[in-house]
Amino acid sequence: MWTVLSVLFLFVYTPVCAVFQKLYCTISDSCECDFSPNIRDLEWDLYKNVYGQHLAQDIVSEEVARFLQNKSPDRPLVLSFHGSSGTGKTLVSSMLGNHLYGSAMSSPYVHQFVPTLHFPLPHRVNKYKEELKGWVQGNLTECARSVFIFDEMEKMPPGLVDVLEPFLGPSHVVFGTNYRKAIYVFISSTGEEVINKVALENRQAGRDREEIKLSELQEAIAQTAYNNSTSGFFQSRLIQQKLITCFVPFLPLSRRHIERCVRSQLCQQGSCGRSDVVEAVGGNMIYTPVPGQYFSTTGCKAVPAKINFFL
Ligand SMILES: *[C@@H]1O[C@H](CO)[C@@H](O)[C@H](O)[C@H]1NC(C)=O
Ligand SMILES: *[C@@H]1O[C@H](CO)[C@@H](O)[C@H](O)[C@H]1NC(C)=O
Ligand SMILES: *[C@@H]1O[C@H](CO)[C@@H](O)[C@H](O)[C@H]1NC(C)=O
Repeated sequence: MWTVLSVLFLFVYTPVCAVFQKLYCTISDSCECDFSPNIRDLEWDLYKNVYGQHLAQDIVSEEVARFLQNKSPDRPLVLSFHGSSGTGKTLVSSMLGNHLYGSAMSSPYVHQFVPTLHFPLPHRVNKYKEELKGWVQGNLTECARSVFIFDEMEKMPPGLVDVLEPFLGPSHVVFGTNYRKAIYVFISSTGEEVINKVALENRQAGRDREEIKLSELQEAIAQTAYNNSTSGFFQSRLIQQKLITCFVPFLPLSRRHIERCVRSQLCQQGSCGRSDVVEAVGGNMIYTPVPGQYFSTTGCKAVPAKINFFL
């Protein structure tokens, strides 16, 4: 009855819609903002447009699907992306935004924090803590399905993200807010050494890259992030309390992956047929280590500039 009345009320009194909707959300605990997840599209996008990242593709689709199937999750979904620059971390985080909220990163419910922009001065960390806590709480009150993306974690003042602890755990209560439906994504290059080492050993042993398992990397990444004072997670309670659902490794890319990036970007520019440019850009990257030249040092990051040069 209440629901029917509410819906009628919403239609009749559109000007007070927003206010009423907020009230309705608080009472019914079922507000979904413009949340319109499309898991099939997310999976398709991940498999079609992310190159060389079988672990990230599998983990992100599985974890997101599992999380969204549960109508009342007991804790939020917290993913931490790790790997060298140009391997696809930012790409995957924006795909997540795109397929959960049709309007992509411009959605008012997808929040991105960039330390150099939002938290530039390490000595103001206490003030930043208050701000961040207030923002997250305010955003969750407006929309329980909010998505929070923390970019460049290695530049985040140490200790800052610990202020999120009450929102990430299962047992804490944040009054009046269902904070357990939120999704958090952390992005950093921390752990790239350990990830790249495992990838290199795998390659030198002549194994397929798809044979690399998450279990080989998960704990090592967590420890590295915890031990390293420039990871944003230095001695973090989020790691101590195991509040991160999954550490997601992004592997270094080899020449064939770079060339797929080049081809896809060329096609977007309407120059699909230019195999000469694909070849030229692929051959113009730096690959390490010197014997073997297995992995690109810049991933797909330098691709657009090089395309412009060779096109
Ligand atoms: C939501 O977060 C943004 C920062 O991304 C902040 O500017 C805004 O004030 C927050 N909204 C509320 C209602 O707290
Ligand atoms: C992290 O530090 C702990 C304690 O000092 C140590 O036992 C562990 O091996 C370190 N792990 C890494 C990956 O550096
Ligand atoms: C911490 O991480 C940075 C960047 O990955 C690295 O250069 C540095 O050697 C690491 N420090 C320690 C103590 O492991």
